[in-house]
Parts: sequence; C-alpha cells; structure tokens
Amino acid sequence: MAKIACMDKSLLSKTAAAMVAKGKGLLAADESSGTCETRFKTIGVACTEESRRAYRGLLITAPGAEQFVSGVILYDETIRQKADDGVPFPDAMARKGILPGIKVDTGAKNLALCPGEKVTEGLDGLRERLAAYFKLGARFAKWRAVITIGEGIPTHTCLYANAHALARYAALCQEASIVPVIEPEVLLDGGHSIETCEEVTEATLRATYAAMSAHNVVPEYVILKSSMVVSGKTHARQALADEVAERTVRVLKRTVPAAQPGVVFLSGGQSDISATAHLNAMASLKGPPWPLTFSYSRALQNPALQAWKGLAANAGAAQRAFLHRARMNGLAAQGKWKPELEKQAA
Ligand code: 13P
Repeated sequence: MAKIACMDKSLLSKTAAAMVAKGKGLLAADESSGTCETRFKTIGVACTEESRRAYRGLLITAPGAEQFVSGVILYDETIRQKADDGVPFPDAMARKGILPGIKVDTGAKNLALCPGEKVTEGLDGLRERLAAYFKLGARFAKWRAVITIGEGIPTHTCLYANAHALARYAALCQEASIVPVIEPEVLLDGGHSIETCEEVTEATLRATYAAMSAHNVVPEYVILKSSMVVSGKTHARQALADEVAERTVRVLKRTVPAAQPGVVFLSGGQSDISATAHLNAMASLKGPPWPLTFSYSRALQNPALQAWKGLAANAGAAQRAFLHRARMNGLAAQGKWKPELEKQAA
C-alpha cells in the first residue's frame, strides 16, 4: 500500500479511542438548517442563525456533559459559531475534553434511474474542506448514507453507490488525520419485518466494508455509526429489546472488522427510552469485540428541546434534561441502565 506522508496515525488512534471511551458517546448536533427548522417548529421557535447558536450553545456548554459525551458532531455553521462568552465552539469543547466533529456530506439526493432511492453527495472539494475543518479543530467527521426498505428496494445499485461514496470519504478523512464516522443508515420507516431489516442491514454493511477495503481505508481508524436492526415502524410485530440486541450484534459481528475501535448507533426516530433500552441490551451481551455506544441526535435532544422553548430563562432546565439523557445513555453503553433510573432527576 502506498505510504501516506501526512496521515497522523497516532492522532487518529487517540481520537478514535477517546470517542468510544467507557461510559461515553457522541451527541449529534449537526442537523442541517432545514432539519433544525423542522425541530424548532415543534416548539414554536423561529429558526435563525442566532436561535440555532443559542440552542447548540446550551448543549455544548452544559456543565458536566463531558462525563458522558466524548464528542459533538457539528454542522458547518456551528463549527464557526461562538459560545455566549465569545469562545469559538470547538475551543469551548476542547477545553472540556470534548472532541469537535463535523458533518461533511452535503445531503442525500435522488439516485438517478433508481426510483425511491438516494445517494449521498459531498465528495467534490472534500480534501480541501477537511483541511479547513482540521484547522478549525475538527478531529472526526460524519457522512450519512440513507438506505430505504420498500418494494424491490434497496437495489444493489443503491448499496454500492453509497458504499463507494462512504469509502472515498473515509479515505480522504484518514489522509487528513480526521477519524471518519461512516453512517450507512437503514431507515426504520415502512411495514417491513425485523427479519427484512436484518437482511438489508447485513447487505448494506457487507457492501460498505467491501468498498472500504477496496479503497485502502484502515479499519483501526474508523468508527461505524450503525442503525439498529428493528421492526419497520408500521409492522404489526414490534420486536422487543432483547431481539433487537441479538439481531443487531449478530449482523455487526458478521460484517465489522474486529480491528475497528468501536461502533456507535443512531436513534433513527426511536423513542428516547427505546434508544436507551436497546443500547443497554446490546452492551449487556457478551461477545462483541468493540465498545458499543450512542451517537444520538433526537434521542438525546428531544427533552432538552421541549424544556428550552427558545427562552434563555429555560437554558438551565434544558441542560438538565439533556444531561439526564446523556447520563442514562452513558450507563446503557455499559449495560448498567435500568428503567427505574429514569425516575431520578439529573
Ligand atoms: P438520530 O439519532 O436522530 O437518528 O440522528 C443521528 C444522526 O446523526 C443522523 O445522521
């Protein structure tokens, strides 16, 4: 394999290990401004650059968050914004020992000649953008591919187009000494069974890792952000946590190299408690060779958003709500969560 002069292997391995440190996980706060608007509408708050800054700021600076949060995934706008005291967000995070991360894809677009399927874009100019993000403090990145289950889909075309993009993104990240988080998300929307979700998740991960290997991506410096194997949202039989855990871990063990430093999960529209219970069930299983933890957006932020309501006076309550979910998920990542703990305030 060709030698890459600028790839800082020691930084990559230090970053990856810190991301999945015991009892910690990632906060995904990288919603595009459009998604942010959808979320803010639910609480009747206007989505402006300032309201987004104020909201992200309260999450990032929540006192004590560093006990449970190893890193925060930021959006391009957010990595350039400042906390109330004028400190740039990446610096405020670094002072607390929280790693700044950055979403670098430019979104999932319709895949040509493949009705109902998407391919994620953002490779053009990515080398230069990664160099700029590294200077701003980013030490890991995220790229999300979207796989939809439906009549006749996903197709091989969709799985391989997305796998190819994920692998090229991951290679560029490693070259820039930024740990790539690869996120092939199998959507939970639909009436499919959990068996179908398991098959599609396995095919997705097989395609993804075949492409990663073809592009010389080093497994030791990659974090997988996976969806869980769950029943389709409208399927009659909703599998319970133990089944979700068993099926998800089985698929991961079949496809993810043991050399990888860790696997994190997205919440994907699960309820806050389900996302925690599923993680706890997985972390309780003996056998996975990697730490399993969270990288949630909605399942960490929902109660904080409801508590905030766009008012500075509610910032403390919103931070407490966020810290509670972060603590619950930090315990779940160690298999130490119990439903009774939900009753205790943060
Ligand atoms: P959810 O946890 O809300 O699925 O978001 C995670 C994420 O980062 C999606 O890209």
